[in-house]
Amino acid sequence: MDKYIINGGKKLHGVVDVMAAKNAVLPIIACCIMIKDVVVLKGCERLTDVENMMRIIRNLGGRCDFDSNDLIIDCKKLSRHSVSHELTGALRSSVFILGPLLSRLHRAEISYPGGCDIGLRPIDLHLEGLKNLGVKLSEDEEKISCDGRNIHSGIISLAFPSVGATENLIMAATLASGRTVIRNAAAEPEIIDLQNFINAMGGNVHGAGSGVVIIDGVSSLHGGVYSPIRDRISAGTFLIGGAMCGGKVTVKGIRSDWLFSLTEKLRLAGAVVTEKLGEITVESDGALRILRKVETQPFPGFPTDLQAPITAMMSASKGRGYVIENLFENRFRHTRELKKMGADIIVCGRAATVRGAKLHGANVIAQDLRGGAALVLAGLKAEGKTEIIGLEHIDRGYYNFEEKITSLGGDIKRVKISCV
Ligand code: EPZ
Repeated sequence: MDKYIINGGKKLHGVVDVMAAKNAVLPIIACCIMIKDVVVLKGCERLTDVENMMRIIRNLGGRCDFDSNDLIIDCKKLSRHSVSHELTGALRSSVFILGPLLSRLHRAEISYPGGCDIGLRPIDLHLEGLKNLGVKLSEDEEKISCDGRNIHSGIISLAFPSVGATENLIMAATLASGRTVIRNAAAEPEIIDLQNFINAMGGNVHGAGSGVVIIDGVSSLHGGVYSPIRDRISAGTFLIGGAMCGGKVTVKGIRSDWLFSLTEKLRLAGAVVTEKLGEITVESDGALRILRKVETQPFPGFPTDLQAPITAMMSASKGRGYVIENLFENRFRHTRELKKMGADIIVCGRAATVRGAKLHGANVIAQDLRGGAALVLAGLKAEGKTEIIGLEHIDRGYYNFEEKITSLGGDIKRVKISCV
């Protein structure tokens, strides 16, 4: 087990080259289940969530290996349709292997991915959508079995623009003959990237990003080489760090329109944000005005995955503001840890009132991926030493996080915890 030791108060200066987005790579790896050929994904990092998805591919009989930053996936010999509980439990978003398994083998069986640190994570929208495509479901306490022998195209109207359900259903319809339409689909850039991947491999998907996705089924997909889009949430995390600590931080490989909702907030807080083709730079003196209100929404609204980092930024700003978390019912766990660092936050249901304060170092615990990243940013800002445990949560979505922060001038070390 490791911990971070951070000495705060340093400004951050430098450039971060952001790599392939976790939330683009995961559905694309799942999509390879229906490709009887080799796929190479460029620019990927050894994130724990990616490695867990690779384990699922191997468990199903496929091959999946890293070659430096290339992820090579070969599902020619994939033959199993059922995934063990410990694998689906380790990766909540494993549920979106149902669509590709049903497309490939017309059968699928997974254990319930279950709730996780940030909320219940139900999968009703996934299952209702699959039923619309003719999939027969049988469920018991532990698992869901899907019979897709009569899978067909159809019209689906999602009650909520769920990212995972949209991805699952696009993949379920990709090889089903006829036209499928998904209404009220999620519009995140990662959905567009999945569409672009499927089309690059011979599929026929259109409309991603517009809220209505149209899938015209094809007989098969072929392999090839693909570069998933870069990680806008990782980029946003570094931009928020630069704004709250002060200095000048540039993130490369990112399209500005993926982060409009964040850059607008950083400007409101008093930071200077400049955008060029493929890069965004934030400059700040570290003394920010608090944001009056941040409310998370589906894309293009403010991303829920940046709620914890922006709450950390607000905790160290001047004034009083509100954070409203509309996407997940349990995504304020980082506030208890931020309060150990002097933050003044009152949480009531899905709303948090934040009064700016001077943060000081403390021993804190990461409880989930983005909450852990928020604690790192708070530690970089705080006066004195902060120690953070629970790094396994952060490793799920940030690779070599401490090295990247060190390259920006932050004082952070990752050390082993003696187990005596
Ligand atoms: C994806 O999760 C992302 N994960 C999450 O990122 C992200 O926070 C989320 O989308 C929202 O943008 C991946 O892409 C791997 P949803 P997903 O289905 O698909 C409810 C991170 O930190 N819902 O859009 O699980 C659900 O409970 C992770 O990188 C249902 O009610 O999100 C939630 O309240 C965390 N029924 C809301 O919809 C369903 O069947 C949004 O969930 C499905 C979802």
